[in-house]
Amino acid sequence: MKLLKIFFLLFPLSGFGLITNIPGREVTELCGRWQIIVDPYDNGYYDYQMRPHTKEGYFANRMPQDKTERIEYRFSPDHTLEVPGDWNTQMEKLFYYEGTIWYKKDFDAPSEKGRFFLYFEGVNYLCDVYLNGEWIGRHVGGFTPFQFEVTDRLRDKGNFLVLRVNNTRIPEGVPGLNTDWWNYGGITRRVLLVHVPETFIEEYFIQLAKDSFYKIQGWVRLNGPEKKQTVRIEIPELKIFQAVCTDNEGTAHFSFSAKPRLWSPENPKLYRVILRTQTDRVEEKIGFRTISATEDEILLNGKPIFLKGICIHEEAPFRGGRASRPEEARILLGWAKELGCNFVRLAHYPHNEWMVRVADEMGLLVWSEIPVYWTIHFENPHTYANAENQLVENITRDKNRASIILWSLANETPVTPERNQFLKRLAEKARSLDPTRLITAASDKSSSDGLTYLISDPICEFLDVIGVNEYIGWYDGLPEKCDRVSWKRAYRKPVIVSEFGGGALYGVHGDSLTRWSEEFQENVYRHQIAMLERMEFLRGVTPWILMDFRSPRRPLYGIQDGWNRKGVISNFGEKKKAFFVLQEWYRHR
Ligand code: GCU
Repeated sequence: MKLLKIFFLLFPLSGFGLITNIPGREVTELCGRWQIIVDPYDNGYYDYQMRPHTKEGYFANRMPQDKTERIEYRFSPDHTLEVPGDWNTQMEKLFYYEGTIWYKKDFDAPSEKGRFFLYFEGVNYLCDVYLNGEWIGRHVGGFTPFQFEVTDRLRDKGNFLVLRVNNTRIPEGVPGLNTDWWNYGGITRRVLLVHVPETFIEEYFIQLAKDSFYKIQGWVRLNGPEKKQTVRIEIPELKIFQAVCTDNEGTAHFSFSAKPRLWSPENPKLYRVILRTQTDRVEEKIGFRTISATEDEILLNGKPIFLKGICIHEEAPFRGGRASRPEEARILLGWAKELGCNFVRLAHYPHNEWMVRVADEMGLLVWSEIPVYWTIHFENPHTYANAENQLVENITRDKNRASIILWSLANETPVTPERNQFLKRLAEKARSLDPTRLITAASDKSSSDGLTYLISDPICEFLDVIGVNEYIGWYDGLPEKCDRVSWKRAYRKPVIVSEFGGGALYGVHGDSLTRWSEEFQENVYRHQIAMLERMEFLRGVTPWILMDFRSPRRPLYGIQDGWNRKGVISNFGEKKKAFFVLQEWYRHR
């Protein structure tokens, strides 16, 4: 019994109930044109005294019953937005819009029996969901999935789904008011109607046991009336045909021997994994590998690895806007592979699911991050609950992705006791949900003389791998300053320089000290690389950043024009000189 108890502690069930492996499910896409109403004063939600409407809200989608009736709103097929997609890049008048937009989609229910869930892959930032005029729930957070069961609310014909989406930045939000990326609002990822049997396989976790190459461990949870069932777990290529019995709660833990070819960037081996019960069957491709850290090394499959990475924002190449399509994931990650990367930092929030599934296929290790970014309200319990919820949703969605090795908790947050405690709690939560991966964050550094930098952020105490951002040669001195800088660490843990870089507008040329020229950016990279080579505890690098991205904080006319120009590739896919400097380094690293 004791052993089982320890096992339960090792693999507690993440208690969130998001359906695992949506790509492996039977879904109806509720995408395409949605009718909209732009509502800057939230008039469709509040009455004139700012009391929430009960019946008069836009969610009711009411039509005049006769010519005398007064109704001051109407959804129309002439006023629509594409879903998925941010609104900023779809309509000129919405480019800078921050506020509420109401979306409506009409649909008929599929004829199959069973249960139905509305599954939202991502909506930025706050979203109220109404079905057939009834409020069914609210979600906060722009980058993680959420769902609501609608089995008993669906009509055979004539359903109307209304979303109130508000992207207004708020001080207590996650992220808060200030971000160096565009606040793309809207239903930025797909909306799906998921069909499952009465009792279905809701969630499962299947990975190699920590530090074991020959033991696959995990758990499975059923949802529905027939909780006690036999669950068959099959990995045909490994000749694994296991059976476990779920308990009265519908859960079962399992552990069995296996000898998989280990997943790695050089050999991103994925196996067909099938789970079936008397009532359900679900399948997906999963890779098996181990990841761990010692005081000085990051070990992939037990061997030290140097993470040759690059940071990536979820900016759509060429067209701009929030990326959401599989082909965009292939372009962005393809450029990372071309650079010679084995690793990507998906900044500063969980990217769409295509990114991590394509990373699994391509063999790119992933740093996955929640948007606890800069100055958020660390003392506010609601802010913490929001951050933890986004962490849980991120881990719940992606915990079976071999590519993900690091859960990152934060980026460049100010060192205060409240912030330290906030992040410590998040680290404990992450480890409780997923004991197999490493925990990191982009932490703070200090320098007494401006030449010797000490990586001394107190949060390093509870990280497995320390991330640190530094811009020597761009924000801090000129490129040659790198030659005079040395680094020390106050905590004996592997370090990733999680950001360095400089800006350049593609096609602008000058000498190596002409700011904004490709030559200046190239110069930053050359001096940075020489400095990083002297950092003997460095175990990875993710330069900032793969591709230029939109930011309201970058107005320099004629150079930035609302774009952060630190990409080694322009937003039109043009490779700057720094791309080739980095590529050359990675070729020989
Ligand atoms: C910061 C921050 C990034 C930002 C970058 C920059 O370190 O983490 O989000 O875009 O620097 O200034 O370009």
